Amino acid sequence: MSVKNILEKRRSVRHYDASYKISSEKLSSLVESASKAPNGNNIQATRYLIIDNPDLRNLILPIAFNQQQVIEASTLMVMLGDYQAFDKENIIEIHEEGFQAGYYDESLRDYLANAAINYYKHKSKEDLKLELTRDVSLASMSFILLANEAGFDTITMSGYDSKKLKDILHISDRYLDVMLIAVGKGTKAGHKTVRHDVNKIIYRNEIS
Ligand SMILES: Cc1cc2nc3c(=O)[nH]c(=O)nc-3n(C[C@H](O)[C@H](O)[C@H](O)COP(=O)(O)O)c2cc1C
Repeated sequence: MSVKNILEKRRSVRHYDASYKISSEKLSSLVESASKAPNGNNIQATRYLIIDNPDLRNLILPIAFNQQQVIEASTLMVMLGDYQAFDKENIIEIHEEGFQAGYYDESLRDYLANAAINYYKHKSKEDLKLELTRDVSLASMSFILLANEAGFDTITMSGYDSKKLKDILHISDRYLDVMLIAVGKGTKAGHKTVRHDVNKIIYRNEIS
């Protein structure tokens, strides 16, 4: 199916076949492809925390407003951004890896690494949070498209208590939780949704 078709047909699905399992190989392959999404300076900050322990899912349920997809979907994933990805060591290591793979020469390696280090150096925690939100969101949408292409249904969720989720899962402040994604085989189609007419959302040169 084309990307256009997936986007036209995809709906957020809220009811899942709880007995359906997605293999870890399939999940890994979806994540591997999603990780090719564009990301700032290629620092690769997105982390995919898969929650497959039913006890944990049951603990998450009440802090996610009892949204049944939390326990019914085959996979529940917490999409995280890793603040440590901004560390100089990570940036240098990633650019060295590209150099060792023969993707660019030493001078481009150093140029790219230094540009990235300088770009993040003076950013506030709020700025870095926005950087992570951008990267994790692009990875999330890529994952959703891939999962739908593979025949699964999905829903993104921000309807949960972030602090309680981090407590339950012992997620430290090193990570920013951006959203949950549930994936599986839907038992009930997502309701149809409207979108603004395109002329209402496109502006040229100015917006007020
Ligand atoms: C960041 C984000 C968070 C969302 N959180 C929830 C949620 O907690 N519960 C829910 O039922 N739907 C949630 N949704 C789904 C939206 O309600 C849905 O995408 C929107 O109504 C459009 O419907 P569609 O995806 O079926 O086209 C979320 C979507 C996004 C992008």
